This record gives sequence, C-alpha cells and structure tokens, in this order.
Amino acid sequence: MLPSLSALIQRKKSRQTLAVLTAYDYPTARLLDEAGVDLLLVGDSLGMVVLGLPDTTGVTMDMMVHHIAAVRRGVTRAPIIGDLPAHSYDTPEQALANARRLVEAGADAVKLEGGTAFIPQVRAIIEAGIPFVGHIGMLPQSVREEGGYKKKGKTPEQADRLIADALALDETGAIAMVLESIVPEVAAEITRQVRASTIGIGAGTGTDGQVLVTHDLLGSFPWFRPPFAKARADLAAETRRAVSEYIAECQK
Ligand code: KIV
Repeated sequence: MLPSLSALIQRKKSRQTLAVLTAYDYPTARLLDEAGVDLLLVGDSLGMVVLGLPDTTGVTMDMMVHHIAAVRRGVTRAPIIGDLPAHSYDTPEQALANARRLVEAGADAVKLEGGTAFIPQVRAIIEAGIPFVGHIGMLPQSVREEGGYKKKGKTPEQADRLIADALALDETGAIAMVLESIVPEVAAEITRQVRASTIGIGAGTGTDGQVLVTHDLLGSFPWFRPPFAKARADLAAETRRAVSEYIAECQK
C-alpha cells in the first residue's frame, strides 16, 4: 500500500510536500485518512501522548501491534508506517521478525531509529520485501543515553555523520526517512543528496515532507508541545469546556 519508490521519487521531483501525521487509534486514523493525509505514522510517541510514559523507551512490541491494528481498521487510503520500538531490532533476525509482526498487524512499512550502525537490520527488512523508512537526527529512543532531546547537525562532524547515515539508508533501499531536529541547512542538503523522500520534524522547510505528532497539531496534549510544532486547534481547552459544562449540568 505504501507508494512505490518510483511514485515517491515522482512526488519528490514535483516538490509537492508530503503531509504526514501520527495516529494511534481508530477514530483519529479515520478522520486523518478522510481528510487526505499522505502517510500515517503509528509512532512510538504513543508511549508519551497516549500512555503517559515519560519517554518512548518503555514502548513494547505488543503496544505497537495493538495500536497499529486499531489504525488499520480506520484507514482505507493512506499508507501506514509502524515504528519498531526500542530494543525490538537489536539484531537483524530480531528486526525482521518484529517488522513482520508489525506488517501482520496492518503496517505497510516499518521504521527504526538509526543510521550506519543499523544497516544489517535495515537490509534484512528490505531484502524480505518490507518497505522501510529510516529515522535519523535526534533519536527519541536514545534520549536517556543522550541526556535530553538535542538538535543535531550543529558541527561539521555531526553534519558529515548525518549525511553518511542518510546515504547509507538510501543505498540500502529506504523508501523514505524521517529527519528529526536537524539544523535546516543539513536537512536540505540530505534532501538534495538522497533518492528517498525526506520527512522533516523540527528540521526546517527544505525536506520532501513534514510530520507532526497529531496531539501537538490539535493541542490535545497541553502539558508539553515542542517549540517547532504549530498548534492549529486547542482540543484540550475545548475538552475542559465541554466536560465542565456537563459536570455543571449534572450537578444542578
Ligand atoms: O514516534 C513518532 O511519532 C515519530 C515522529 C516524531 C517522527 O517517530
């Protein structure tokens, strides 16, 4: 169901930016699909914005399978990318077995975080015929080792490493790659150098697509929103208003 590599390359050439959003449940997936989003990501960000975990490192394969299946039931059109959670791809064999589980649950493609260090895992997935999406730059699954969420590509060494990671993923056959929290010039340079579609988040406007966590777009997770995410609704305020009205009416 994922657009073929040639379709994505055509889209890249046409310079029409891909609009990508996360979904974790049936009604949201259905609404976003009906609204015309290009790709849906069942991201492991669900650990934070749906399950209340402090970061994504506690997300399990069972959680991903559960949410991908729900999203699959709501979608008829947009391809679904499913995240492999932390430590579900420590070896190529484990990566392939878990990628197959996500596909059986309903994902059209799978994504994992990392570049050159994970090429054996990426190759195993792609050689099995599963469309693959990379993810480089700031890697939320490494937040504890990194000591926080930090912008990437600020030094020439970091920029060179990111470009090498992107080229390695591209040569292995990634159909797309997420560029997260990368300085805009480096993200734009990667976009020029790779055949795969780049999908930026906090990486400027020079990428082939943009992805946002839907809760950030809709203002439904008011306790934290990254500075680059523009909220276009305030569902938290609307929820509080409706609930207060209901409570007041019940208690009259
Ligand atoms: O888990 C997720 O939602 C992601 C996006 C932030 C790209 O990986």
